[in-house]
Amino acid sequence: MRLFSLVFLPVCAASITSTGSTILLNNVPYYISPHFVGNIALEAHALDNIDSVSGFAPVSVLPLGTQPDDISGVFTSCNATDDVFQPGFSQLILNETQSLSNLTTQKVEVAGQGTSTVASYTTKSRVPEGPYLLDKTTSNLHQAYRLYDDFAGTFTEALLDNNDGTFQVLSAKVASSATLSIGVPSRLYYKPSKERPLAGVRIAVKDIFSLAGVKRSNGNRAWYHLYPPSNVTAVAISRLIEAGAVIVGTQKLSQFATSEVATVDWVDYHSPFNPRGDGYQDPSSSSSGAGASVASYDWLDAAVGTDTGGSIRSPAGVNGVFGNRASHGLVSLDNVMPLSEPLDTAGFLVRDPALWDKLQTVMYGSNYTSLASLQPKYPVNIMTVSYPDSSTKAGRLLNDFATALAKFLGGNVSTLDVASAWTRSETNLHANLNFTESFNITYPVLTGKGQDNLTNQFFADYASLHDGRRPFVNPSPLARWAWAANYSWDEALQNKTMFANWFNGQILPSVNDPLQCSSSLILYAGKTGTQAPRNRYDIAPPSPFTGFSAARMSVFSGCPDFIYPVGEVSKFSNLTNHDEKLPVAVGILAAKGCDGLLARLAMDLVGEGILKIPQVGGSMSGEPILF
Ligand SMILES: *[C@@H]1O[C@H](CO)[C@@H](O)[C@H](O)[C@H]1NC(C)=O
Ligand SMILES: *[C@@H]1O[C@H](CO)[C@@H](O)[C@H](O)[C@H]1NC(C)=O
Ligand SMILES: *[C@@H]1O[C@H](CO)[C@@H](O)[C@H](O)[C@H]1NC(C)=O
Ligand SMILES: *[C@@H]1O[C@H](CO)[C@@H](O)[C@H](O)[C@H]1NC(C)=O
Ligand SMILES: *[C@@H]1O[C@H](CO)[C@@H](O)[C@H](O)[C@H]1NC(C)=O
Ligand SMILES: *[C@@H]1O[C@H](CO)[C@@H](O)[C@H](O)[C@H]1NC(C)=O
Ligand SMILES: *[C@@H]1O[C@H](CO)[C@@H](O)[C@H](O)[C@H]1NC(C)=O
Ligand SMILES: *[C@@H]1O[C@H](CO)[C@@H](O)[C@H](O)[C@H]1NC(C)=O
Ligand SMILES: *[C@@H]1O[C@H](CO)[C@@H](O)[C@H](O)[C@H]1NC(C)=O
Ligand SMILES: *[C@@H]1O[C@H](CO)[C@@H](O)[C@H](O)[C@H]1NC(C)=O
Ligand SMILES: *[C@@H]1O[C@H](CO)[C@@H](O)[C@H](O)[C@H]1NC(C)=O
Ligand SMILES: *[C@@H]1O[C@H](CO)[C@@H](O)[C@H](O)[C@H]1NC(C)=O
Repeated sequence: MRLFSLVFLPVCAASITSTGSTILLNNVPYYISPHFVGNIALEAHALDNIDSVSGFAPVSVLPLGTQPDDISGVFTSCNATDDVFQPGFSQLILNETQSLSNLTTQKVEVAGQGTSTVASYTTKSRVPEGPYLLDKTTSNLHQAYRLYDDFAGTFTEALLDNNDGTFQVLSAKVASSATLSIGVPSRLYYKPSKERPLAGVRIAVKDIFSLAGVKRSNGNRAWYHLYPPSNVTAVAISRLIEAGAVIVGTQKLSQFATSEVATVDWVDYHSPFNPRGDGYQDPSSSSSGAGASVASYDWLDAAVGTDTGGSIRSPAGVNGVFGNRASHGLVSLDNVMPLSEPLDTAGFLVRDPALWDKLQTVMYGSNYTSLASLQPKYPVNIMTVSYPDSSTKAGRLLNDFATALAKFLGGNVSTLDVASAWTRSETNLHANLNFTESFNITYPVLTGKGQDNLTNQFFADYASLHDGRRPFVNPSPLARWAWAANYSWDEALQNKTMFANWFNGQILPSVNDPLQCSSSLILYAGKTGTQAPRNRYDIAPPSPFTGFSAARMSVFSGCPDFIYPVGEVSKFSNLTNHDEKLPVAVGILAAKGCDGLLARLAMDLVGEGILKIPQVGGSMSGEPILF
């Protein structure tokens, strides 16, 4: 007897969508994109004896016109230049042909890899060379993504570009301890061109930029759960995408981009791990995921951060990579969470200065002048602000850098005391105002009040959904908002403007020649290898960032302020009971709008051997990361 009859059941619609799948190929984890990039026609028996799983066979598409004799060379070079390609993709080698009637399948010997099958195929739309997964039932080619463990805990979401202007979660997992898996597509799919200079460049994005289809957290759990995915992509990021960049995920920040200390302050999300030294040093904030990831992963080319009061420069410094606070206003920050609009900037954390220049050229468009292919006329006047002497190891590195820079530029180094220059300057209309008092609270007021509109809306939206409740906010942003509540935004903005006018007019003006751009360069100590272990209890509660320091010059004036890693100092770690290396970095300023000069200078100093390209790892020379 039948227990039920299908006839009387309501029609039950099942919405099933593939989110891709995960495979191991020779023990390497891969993600198969749910999107296919091409459909091919092969000889029927071409797939005989080809290994597959769930209907997917690893295959390689040859560059157009590759001759049989070239295959070994092509594969050696693919294997050397691409971390996604591996010999497992060479069991079936696909060769595009025009002729429908002459599809062939033959065996070839590939040096070091044994016998492979080469099959010719036809297709309506060209498929770039590289490794793919061929769906044996549909003959669709799906892109292969290599999966990596975000062991430093730097990402908030792994992303897959849907190639329709939106993103979805890249849903894959490799073995790891409470961290995400990030997928990167083969580098072989991409050929940089004039139109797409960033083709294939892998970039991660601070989780305050809107990306269409993606939920944003701003470092706050309540925010993440309250709002739907964005329906737009911030222009700063869409420019990178249009230039061919691959956005691989969103990254952790300290909450609402306010400075936080690891680990006491990071209540909603855990702070990323700085890979340098003993592995337990604070990665700094707020672009913490950006800094820690670029210092940890050679599969990631760059990370986008924002800098309001040091949020790119500080993580770049302590994680030992390059990072730029851009001239203020180079790119619109629409659809980006503000901290303080008059001070907010978007920039990059990178290892390679040549890529840095390309990234800036794309993100800042006509507001950026690349000097990469021109001959710059560097300023010869170098000033140092609050620079240490050579009595410490870090001080010696910084002074050696200043000396080497002066020699390279044929210039001289002098010291600048900003506060006394303010008072002494005959052309300063406000020289009578006490410098210390004028700029003591300017920054904490502008940042503490700069999120008023954001928080008012957030608190109201949360309350209306949750019966009048307040969302949880970490102690650090709460303290700084509360402190600033009774101060005047307009007065702070006026003081900031007063500083900018004086500094950009009297201290660091630009010059008319675009090849020089800046009248001088100013150096300060970016980071000095100070230990800041993340397992401390002796931390003062969050307080406003009062006072003036060298790192505030660019914040108030809007001039570019780049961090160059200059070396490392060895310090005894009482965590490992061993000496460990910590990065030392210089901060370097040029006149407002002269960003391209500082990128080119970094390239030249690498060329001269004065700076080194930092490697990923436990040290800038690429030693293993301690876990
Ligand atoms: C690929 O096809 C082209 C044109 O059909 C042919 O000239 C070439 O020899 C083929 N290459 C291989 C490796 O079979
Ligand atoms: C491929 O590259 C890996 C790592 O770069 C290397 O260990 C391996 O020997 C290469 N294999 C071949 C067949 O070239
Ligand atoms: C296709 O095959 C035929 C018969 O084998 C041959 O005559 C013709 O030249 C081939 N065409 C191409 C383009 O290789
Ligand atoms: C995008 O979302 C915002 C709210 O977040 C809404 O105001 C706007 O109309 C949406 N735009 C589109 C094109 O859907
Ligand atoms: C250049 O900067 C101005 C001023 O901040 C801005 O309005 C404009 O959109 C920027 N141009 C580009 C190409 O981003
Ligand atoms: C640097 O100083 C030296 C010695 O004081 C002087 O001879 C030289 O002209 C100076 N160079 C510049 C570029 O000012
Ligand atoms: C400026 O104010 C500070 C703090 O109130 C004070 O210590 C300093 O002497 C003043 N400077 C001048 C030049 O008056
Ligand atoms: C700076 O502001 C803080 C907070 O209001 C205050 O405690 C401190 O005395 C001020 N310092 C100066 C030099 O005015
Ligand atoms: C602005 O400068 C004035 C004059 O020096 C000072 O009294 C005031 O405290 C400053 N306010 C802010 C918010 O920076
Ligand atoms: C808040 O929004 C108002 C109205 O749009 C605007 O005038 C004000 O400048 C905003 N405040 C901040 C701190 O951005
Ligand atoms: C700020 O002003 C409000 C009234 O406008 C007052 O209730 C509050 O106590 C003040 N807070 C501080 C820290 O002075
Ligand atoms: C380790 O060094 C830090 C200073 O960097 C110090 O505060 C702490 O007490 C030391 N811990 C031990 C166990 O010695």
